[in-house]
Amino acid sequence: MPLVTTTEMFKKAYENGYAIGAFNVNNMEIVQGITEAALEEKAPLILQVSAGARKYAKHVYLIKLVEAALEDTGLPIALHLDHGADFETCKSCIDGGFTSVMIDGSAHPFEENIAVTKKVVEYAHDRGVVVEGELGQLAGVEDDVNVESHSYTDPAQAEEFVEKTGVDSLAIAIGTSHGAYKFKPGQKPQLRFDILEDVKSRLPGFPIVLHGASSVIPEFVEIVNKYGGAMPDAIGIPEDMLRQAAKSAVCKINIDSDLRLAMTATIREHMANHPSDFDPRQYLTPARDAIRGMVKRKIVNVLGCGGKA
Ligand code: G3H
Ligand code: 13P
Ligand code: ZN
Repeated sequence: MPLVTTTEMFKKAYENGYAIGAFNVNNMEIVQGITEAALEEKAPLILQVSAGARKYAKHVYLIKLVEAALEDTGLPIALHLDHGADFETCKSCIDGGFTSVMIDGSAHPFEENIAVTKKVVEYAHDRGVVVEGELGQLAGVEDDVNVESHSYTDPAQAEEFVEKTGVDSLAIAIGTSHGAYKFKPGQKPQLRFDILEDVKSRLPGFPIVLHGASSVIPEFVEIVNKYGGAMPDAIGIPEDMLRQAAKSAVCKINIDSDLRLAMTATIREHMANHPSDFDPRQYLTPARDAIRGMVKRKIVNVLGCGGKA
């Protein structure tokens, strides 16, 4: 099966109250861990690539890895650009075989965000590629830029944005954030479901995206800390809140930090218990298994997309 777009995936997800996982990929073990889990759970999948991933692994290697995963699993997989910063980056991924791109104009003033998003939509749609836009800003660290506090999405603006740009999905800010420190120590995790429901009522049937949706599973934070790491006060989005969002209009849930954490915790533990290992396969095998376990956990606890491939 060739790469698919997210159109059909989102339609079914919206109608049936589940979401598709969008997992960031940077190397072979990550691609394999994610796709093995999706295959075991018969789940549709979005593999997403950031600018940092393209810089680290090179576009062509990532494309070939995803093609290998398609051939190996036969699953419906969409290949998505995560946080495209400008038209040129989106164009390069559209021309280079991606089936979905994100144009992240969220840091620009509203009218500029509309203009750049519309330009990407026109180029992408002419070539059968779908586009995710973003409105509102998440707190946290992204591309080395630290945004101190959330700038929640205005539902009325979301409606206008979708109408004027023609985007296929929209990332909104309701209190999630990138990275492993999503709430301050002692702060009660909460999301603005009122904003999500308002957007849903203004844009019925339209797929919403949640970024910064890792749960930062405490058992992995503990392992990192036990084996010499320093992740004080790491805290993520509770799984039940994400499940609630997936049952509503959220059709795509972005997860990267949880994969990083599972992989790093596993490698730290392995190296502590096998200090003389120096064959990368010895520690990358359990790391890949940890990714697989994490993705299965997401499919079951958060996404609800098992058996939907
Ligand atoms: O939202 C950002 C993703 O977690 C990708 O992170 O830019 O370090 O690859 P990255
Ligand atoms: P996390 O840092 O919560 O995993 O979010 C990832 C993300 O939104 C990628 O775009
Ligand atoms: Zn993101």
